[in-house]
Amino acid sequence: MGNVNAVILGTGRAYPEGVITNADLETMVDTSDEWITTRTGIKQRHRAADNEYTSLFAVRAARQAIERARIEASDIDLLICATVTPDQILPATGCLIQAELGAHRAAAFDLVAACSGFLYGLTLANQMIRSSQSRYALVIGAEILTRYVDYTDRGTCVIFGDGAGAAVLGGTTSERGILSARIRSDGRYAEQLFSPGGGTRLQPTAETLSGGMHFFKMRGNELFKVAVRSMIEVSTEVLTEAGYKPEDIKLFVPHQANQRITDAVADKLGVDSSKVYSNIAMHGNTSSASIPIALDECVESGMLQEGDLVLMASFGGGATWGAVLTRW
Ligand code: ACO
Repeated sequence: MGNVNAVILGTGRAYPEGVITNADLETMVDTSDEWITTRTGIKQRHRAADNEYTSLFAVRAARQAIERARIEASDIDLLICATVTPDQILPATGCLIQAELGAHRAAAFDLVAACSGFLYGLTLANQMIRSSQSRYALVIGAEILTRYVDYTDRGTCVIFGDGAGAAVLGGTTSERGILSARIRSDGRYAEQLFSPGGGTRLQPTAETLSGGMHFFKMRGNELFKVAVRSMIEVSTEVLTEAGYKPEDIKLFVPHQANQRITDAVADKLGVDSSKVYSNIAMHGNTSSASIPIALDECVESGMLQEGDLVLMASFGGGATWGAVLTRW
């Protein structure tokens, strides 16, 4: 093929049935529905049961994406699972998903970029397809964040939820597909959102577990400002590179971190609020899963039509951030 673009051919999503409402959280920590709603926009978040695990939802989302892309699992030659909450340390959750799907031809691996994981995955898949290294790529964002949430820490437990979203990409020589993609990181922000225990630096012991060292620790307030600034910068870069202005966008699908972050980014970018997709009220922050879940909801509700210009942007622990501009 000549100039090949990578286009999203199908999307899918899945999440646990269990939910934690703001009223539930009021009984667990010193918080209120009013505080959570006005400071984050969140009303409820899904929470996996003890016998549910990340790949379970990843596989469900992936099956739907594969079906909607009208391909077979065996057609996939690249499988990227973006997650910070893998089933286990070894092997990669991507390999477990591959086996379950029967995607035996795929190179499968995990990608750790927190909330930016899905856009990191899209960016890599885009390049693999453009360079003809890959024909069909499956990019998944899947998280069971509630396993790492400290339900005595009101600053983190109100925002995180569980779920998975997936997208199948293939090549096209049409005008559609990914027009511009940028990913960035800055490890100097590592300790603004991190899980100190459980790895080789602070290996899991009875003490680290009882001390809650495996739970996420977050300086949310400091991250907030960096998130807004970084998402605006990288979104402007992809728009400029592709030769578009914010007003050209049909739909802005940001990572669902906090409604106030979304509103600030859209406002400063100059994207009208009617073009901004938000589902944070129902899902909370599902990290790498939030953008693919949102995309699938947009497709299902008819908000996304072929030819629409879609901007996605994210910011997450690391810190990592990125933006992808695509013609649907
Ligand atoms: N209920 C009631 N009060 C609360 C709660 C709560 N759940 N949480 C914090 N507070 C209090 C604080 O103790 C503080 O009280 P004080 O003034 O008496 O000290 C006050 O509210 C303000 O606290 P802030 O931390 O400044 O609150 P903020 O408005 O920043 O909201 C939040 C906190 C929701 C975490 C916000 O900072 C945020 O969303 N940050 C960004 C998170 C993010 O983007 N993370 C990266 C992506 S996630 C990933 O990568 C997995």
